[in-house]
Amino acid sequence: MDSSLKGWLTKASREGFAIGAFNAVNLEMVKGIVAAAQITQSPLIIEASQGEIEYFGFRNFLSVVKNLSSETGLPIFTNLDHGKEIENVKKAIELGFDMVHFDGSDLGFEENLRASLQMVELAHQKGVLIEVEFEKIQGVSEKQEETAEEVLAKGELTDPDKAAGLLTQVKADILAVSIGNLHGVYRTAEEIDLLRLRRLAELLPCLMSLHGGSGINQEQLKEAIGLGIVKINVNTDLRIAYRQTLENVLKGSDAVKVYQLMPPVIASIQKVVEEKIKLFGSEGKAVEIERL
Ligand code: G3H
Ligand code: ZN
Repeated sequence: MDSSLKGWLTKASREGFAIGAFNAVNLEMVKGIVAAAQITQSPLIIEASQGEIEYFGFRNFLSVVKNLSSETGLPIFTNLDHGKEIENVKKAIELGFDMVHFDGSDLGFEENLRASLQMVELAHQKGVLIEVEFEKIQGVSEKQEETAEEVLAKGELTDPDKAAGLLTQVKADILAVSIGNLHGVYRTAEEIDLLRLRRLAELLPCLMSLHGGSGINQEQLKEAIGLGIVKINVNTDLRIAYRQTLENVLKGSDAVKVYQLMPPVIASIQKVVEEKIKLFGSEGKAVEIERL
């Protein structure tokens, strides 16, 4: 099969599983994510959003992910998540990220359309996969006090007919759909509009991603994968695991050697990622390829 990210996402679409896209901001997070890929023999994407990549550094991110993943020989891919600044998206394309998510959802529709067309052309010239976003995925990747319903009401859901027309014009590889999913975890679970998703799957000429992979009802998530979601982004659950574990470690120890403090944090990231991989149905998929 085509071993590129596009090949993997196409395989996921054909076989009804999803590839997790996990946000990482430092070495510990990448180590935890890669360890989970190794133990489950799963393909995955490691991504960084704008704030995260500015902290990590574009080249540091790429080197660390590539160094650690080459040791496993597994299909581990890189993504610039929610790239809002054109310059950052261009930089990721130039540096050789496997994919970029151009997020023009804060712009007016016409401006987003213009910029998305331009970014798709640029990415495809360089053989980079590209995701676009029109209806903004609401919320931020943190634990929130509001209910999911309150936050969802602030935005709009993706209209299947409109999106199908748009994506025929824009020709991106992936659309980030807004179907009840939110960034962050809330007092109530996020409810996915599965009927809307079914219609989107029928009409869209491209693949679909589901942002906000933390805090979604698990049964619904499985149904969403069955209906054609091939990439699921996860951040908040990793951030919470990192912080809680680090707090516990610091409470129970006077150690100052960082290499003694961080292994439990890495293990907590690994645990979250392993659970998600099992839920998304991508476990063992990398082994199947080796056998071909
Ligand atoms: O782009 C990142 C994801 O959509 C993260 O969503 O923080 O709800 O897991 P989450
Ligand atoms: Zn997102």
